[in-house]
Amino acid sequence: MYQSPTALPPAISPAGYFEPEHFEAEMSHAFAESWHLVGTRAQLVKPGDYVSAHLLDTPVVVRNFNGELVALRNVCAHRHAQLVCKKAGHSESLKCPYHGWEYGSDGLTRKIPAPKNFPHFDRQKFCLDRFAVESCGELVFVRLSKTGMSLTEWLGQRAGLFAEWFSADNWKQTLSLDFEYPCNWKIPIEAALESYHIPSVHPNTFSEDPGESRSDHFFYDTGTSFKTIFMTPRWADHLLKFAEMTTMRTLGVPFTGFYEHHQVFPNLLISHTDSLSLAQVVIPRTATTASGLVIQFGRRSALKNPISKLTAWCWGIFATWLTKPILYEDVKIYPKVQEGVKGAHRSGLLGRCEERLHASQNYIRSRIDGIPHDETTRGNDFHSPPDSDYVSPQEVGQTSRPTH
Ligand code: FES
Repeated sequence: MYQSPTALPPAISPAGYFEPEHFEAEMSHAFAESWHLVGTRAQLVKPGDYVSAHLLDTPVVVRNFNGELVALRNVCAHRHAQLVCKKAGHSESLKCPYHGWEYGSDGLTRKIPAPKNFPHFDRQKFCLDRFAVESCGELVFVRLSKTGMSLTEWLGQRAGLFAEWFSADNWKQTLSLDFEYPCNWKIPIEAALESYHIPSVHPNTFSEDPGESRSDHFFYDTGTSFKTIFMTPRWADHLLKFAEMTTMRTLGVPFTGFYEHHQVFPNLLISHTDSLSLAQVVIPRTATTASGLVIQFGRRSALKNPISKLTAWCWGIFATWLTKPILYEDVKIYPKVQEGVKGAHRSGLLGRCEERLHASQNYIRSRIDGIPHDETTRGNDFHSPPDSDYVSPQEVGQTSRPTH
């Protein structure tokens, strides 16, 4: 069930989706100590493996240095060439492609061609910035700020759940997709926080909004979540459910039929079913552009026999085939929203079913205004679900401070 008894006023005005001043305020306050998903440990198994990402205004390379994952600024200290250009790859050393400066895991130079050209060279000054890097299961995250919460603290009470959903023991990466969005970063995030758009945007894939009676919304101090069992009258969906159930049985894995969707404020989304786990991050670039990374995992077989392993592999490919069209259906609507907000003459209205979106906006608003997040969610008369481990905004307001 939804928790809000009324429709809700947006906490961010239309200008908050294109004004540079608002964008700068978000970067300074809502993203100051955020962790950003950059890839997976499977991409960084061997010494020399690396992934790169552009996080806010900072290019970053995460590289395996003799077994240690290290995040460094992906900009040479000499004359600022990009050190690696590919999203993921392997190199024998971290060497600049321009004049050949090489760097170690501490960000200091290891080799400089023709060093006599640089008498009294200060290695501590002309080096690469190093950033915090941590993992949750197979997911690798980077924090740009020197100080801040650990990744576990930032993920909050759901950290253990997410680590389980992306553990190498039970899950295997099946998909990695990069996106460039011609819109403000909040537009893709907010599209993922409600099912109201499903009949219009996903008529042939998801098909139906599960509606209030089959939707449970939960609120945490670090984000929100949604839990449902998708069940439409279409014969294809019944067939899909039966296929998933049979597959899980073949893999020796319990079947529940639940779909869960989580947001970790401000920009991390996690989806999970019995057979797949999906992580999505949206990275702001400018007030009207953003980039995204989607990583999907498929369930490994709990049984050792070759039939089970082959079934897990086939289901991973099939689930990827199902996911992609849904992602691209959403992508098509974003430029239309971006174009629309520029012409909006007043704030819109968020329905009860869009209360997670309201919480997300409230988080941003509270960070910019410098008031505790729980204060902004009071007064909405939300109700806590009975017998639940989850916390309602009211409970958060009464018992804890926001953790970021
Ligand atoms: Fe990197 Fe010159 S710019 S070595």
